[in-house]
Amino acid sequence: MASNILSSPALSFELVARCSTTRARASNLTLPHGLVRLPIFMPVATQASLKGITPQQLEETGCRLSLNNTYHLGLKPGQEVLDVVGGAHKFQGWSHNLLTDSGGQVRRRFQMVSLLKLAKITEEGVTFLSPHDGSPMLLTPEHSMSLQNSIGSDIMMQLDDVLVTTSPDKARMREAMERSVRWLDRCIAAHKNPSTQNLFCIIQGGLDLDMRRECCKAMLARDTPGIAIGGLSGGEAKDDYCRVVKTCTDMLPDLKPRYVMGIGYPEDLVVSVALGADMFDCVWPTRTARFGNAITKHGVLKIRSVQFASDFGPIEQGCGCMCCRTDGDGMGVTRAYVHHNASKETVSAHLLTIHNVWYQVNLMREMRESIIEDRFPAFIRRFFANLYEHKA
Ligand code: GUN
Ligand code: ZN
Repeated sequence: MASNILSSPALSFELVARCSTTRARASNLTLPHGLVRLPIFMPVATQASLKGITPQQLEETGCRLSLNNTYHLGLKPGQEVLDVVGGAHKFQGWSHNLLTDSGGQVRRRFQMVSLLKLAKITEEGVTFLSPHDGSPMLLTPEHSMSLQNSIGSDIMMQLDDVLVTTSPDKARMREAMERSVRWLDRCIAAHKNPSTQNLFCIIQGGLDLDMRRECCKAMLARDTPGIAIGGLSGGEAKDDYCRVVKTCTDMLPDLKPRYVMGIGYPEDLVVSVALGADMFDCVWPTRTARFGNAITKHGVLKIRSVQFASDFGPIEQGCGCMCCRTDGDGMGVTRAYVHHNASKETVSAHLLTIHNVWYQVNLMREMRESIIEDRFPAFIRRFFANLYEHKA
């Protein structure tokens, strides 16, 4: 009998169910800090905090794997502090799993906002000019791994050479893809704790499907316990995005987790799960909460707009988050209350952050249940009907 479980030293992956009509899968990922049910959305706590919500509140949303950034933690609190406290789990009081991005994403962000002069790349590594004092910091694959070993994350990402997918320069795209493979080898060689921390590779290659295939092949030969697809969400067209994800998932082994980096709009999550991806992260749900926006199944609500000033309903009818619930320990806050506080008080940002993270976690849970019960196509139809029916 073909097994549906694959174990690596610090991870085990069990395929629980497959959708019979799409490529969607439901699986169990067991990491050093416990079980994670896939598919999953991971909220991003850049500086080891979800700006305003406590680790306990994050736990109450159902989140069991959250994301920290190596570059930010390396600057503050810094490696010595992390070594003294014994890693980022202890530092932030988080007993569940952590994934750290390597620093490569900082460069990607600088490209998107045209601050490229702040991030220079050579074969040695990425040099950032500190946004605080302008001092240069060289992040090499070895340094990124050393920081991630000190952080103690359950999943560490390789340092990669990221180019936004809209970059037209094919030769430069090939250089970035090939360099990312060489940097994976340097990361593997520098990794000090392979029996307690998982290192994932990141597939690059832009929108060129042959380059993606070539990169997949090279990365798969390195046999990491999980695989990420990077270099997306740079403003590419949706059909280009889908072609890249499908081309990669077609080549990836069934019994390893597949992580599409930087994706977080609900409709992109649903489509990407249908294409066979398992893990996602994005700053958008928490960032947009701080701008006063609530994610709901009928789309995003701008709670600061005047129509909510005397709306005494919950943020979202039927939502099970602690802000919207009226039973038990639910707070039963009204839209009017969130609106009233939205421009001057941080309480609205906190409430919307909790609601939005809960929305994303719950969306993934509903997808998982529908895959297990083999009714995912009906789930997709209802999801898109809800999203578009109330749009003006
Ligand atoms: N976050 C979103 N996309 C990427 C990527 O391609 N590489 C890394 N390291 N982080 C990302
Ligand atoms: Zn809610």
